[in-house]
Amino acid sequence: MNSTELRKKFLSFFRERDHAVIPSAPLVPENDPTVLFTTAGMQPLVPFLMGEKHPMGRRLTNAQKCIRTGDIDEVGDKTHHTFFEMLGNWSLGDYFKREAILWSYEYLTSKEWLGINVKQLAMSVFAGDVDAPFDQEAYNIWSELGIPEERIARLPKKNNWWGPAGETGPCGPDTEMFVWTGGGQAPVKFDPEDERWVEIWNDVFMQYYKTSDGKFEPLVQKNVDTGMGLERALAIMNGLDDNYRTDLFWPIIQELERLSGKSYEDNTRGFRIIADHIKAAVFAIADGATPSNKDRGYVVRRLIRRAIVKAHQIGIVDNFTVAVARIVLEIYRDVYFAGQNEVQDGVLDELEKEEVKFRRTLNAALKDLETYARMSGSYVGEDIPKRYELSGENLFDLYQSKGLPLEIALEEARRLNIMVKEDAVGVFEDKVRAHQELSRTASAGMFKGGLADAGDIATKYHTATHLLLAALRKVLGEHVLQRGSNITAERLRFDFSHPEKLTPEQIREVESLVNDQIRQDLPVDLEEMTLEDAKKCNAMGVFESKYGEKVKVYTIGKSKEEYFSKEICGGPHVRHTGELGRFKITKEEASSAGVRRIKAVLS
Ligand code: ALA
Repeated sequence: MNSTELRKKFLSFFRERDHAVIPSAPLVPENDPTVLFTTAGMQPLVPFLMGEKHPMGRRLTNAQKCIRTGDIDEVGDKTHHTFFEMLGNWSLGDYFKREAILWSYEYLTSKEWLGINVKQLAMSVFAGDVDAPFDQEAYNIWSELGIPEERIARLPKKNNWWGPAGETGPCGPDTEMFVWTGGGQAPVKFDPEDERWVEIWNDVFMQYYKTSDGKFEPLVQKNVDTGMGLERALAIMNGLDDNYRTDLFWPIIQELERLSGKSYEDNTRGFRIIADHIKAAVFAIADGATPSNKDRGYVVRRLIRRAIVKAHQIGIVDNFTVAVARIVLEIYRDVYFAGQNEVQDGVLDELEKEEVKFRRTLNAALKDLETYARMSGSYVGEDIPKRYELSGENLFDLYQSKGLPLEIALEEARRLNIMVKEDAVGVFEDKVRAHQELSRTASAGMFKGGLADAGDIATKYHTATHLLLAALRKVLGEHVLQRGSNITAERLRFDFSHPEKLTPEQIREVESLVNDQIRQDLPVDLEEMTLEDAKKCNAMGVFESKYGEKVKVYTIGKSKEEYFSKEICGGPHVRHTGELGRFKITKEEASSAGVRRIKAVLS
């Protein structure tokens, strides 16, 4: 079974059970400044798990692109990836445990679907603790399906609880399904510690909300959130015990063999890391996270640089990332890149630029490291007066002036047998902190809190963006269209088509138009309709196909007819413009040819 068939099969199963198939949300969360990347299928759905109405209904399914960097050190083994796809189905206050489990069971075991022998399956359920009781209901349902007691493990929160995605938010007990991959008949008793039992699917029952003081309150709307890692499931279905041998990776590995003239067998870990990191970088860049020194751009930069260093170690000394990226784009062309030639070219361009830049400094940094190696006496046979130890200052210098990330420097040091001072990492970190106090604080903030926390500020900026677009069109003309939007907890950034610099009068006019609408405390009205109807009533829209057929239209104004702004948009928005405070444009500049960029704040 190939990846396309498996993806299709999953979605068809749930489509037949009245689930709407929604597209994958972008990897860079839209208007959610609290997280770097989309890490699970549920993440873009948080507002809907919290009770907001989804335009496609209460039963959803999709394949979601995800990036998780928390496990980056595990990448290199058979099953961990930074980029992966998650197949999932959701009930937004519709069905609950019984249906979810029965369907999971049917999909896994029925000959018509995956057809896994039930004798090769085991389950785990939440054992219960002070916050929530043992999940007797899930246990009973598995029991009724004939799963013997010794194949249903009762495990604590560490294993069988999911969420929230941030510090607060929806969460709950889960039940996980495992497949025996050790060959032959599975052992009678399920041992969750035995790695030959591989988790294939997770059904989360989101029935609690974790509050900021750490309490678990029952949710009014009870949801189901499930996740099946596509790469892992694909390997299992093909009897492979290495995800990199599936069609989602194997062409990349073959390209690396060609480029290096070496075999996967002899360079397994390095090849896996390169394949994983370049793939993740391709998807991140395609979704707008270009390499930089900040936040998600920095994560992407590190992934690329790590891949280049690994390649260098294996003996690929010429630029190679573009060749590998082409293979990645080929693997996923029909699924994610059909008709997106510009995006593909953009990805290749960014990678080429980044590689050229980094290779220049990498060679210099590696030379420095070799000097340190010589000084530390790890070069056998040389007459060394004193054993040198790599210090935090050295590491900082390699990082600051040569662009070599800490973990790469440490890996290389280990490879070259260079001694490293005990306090080196601490000193390095202090120096980085001192150097980048401000941007560090900003990026640390990205990890704090879930959508629900910083969501309020983001929501305000989101509504302000609608007012800004409408005001720009009134002041400058109808040729003004949205070209891009980005929101953080500090400001909004908005790109729009307009051929020339705005005059100070025009800026003032736009500001006062927006502030007028805020002062009038206009209602923000939400309606759901088909895309055709939305177009008929002149709604502006830049995300035309995002939610499929039915769309949400937000109208800001006194009435449906007499309005200031009408846009197709996923939301969420404030209810009244009065909540926004004061709007001020802080910057107006060129973004690219024919596109201007405005930054603005609310106070
Ligand atoms: N959100 C759940 C997970 O990521 C399904 O495992």
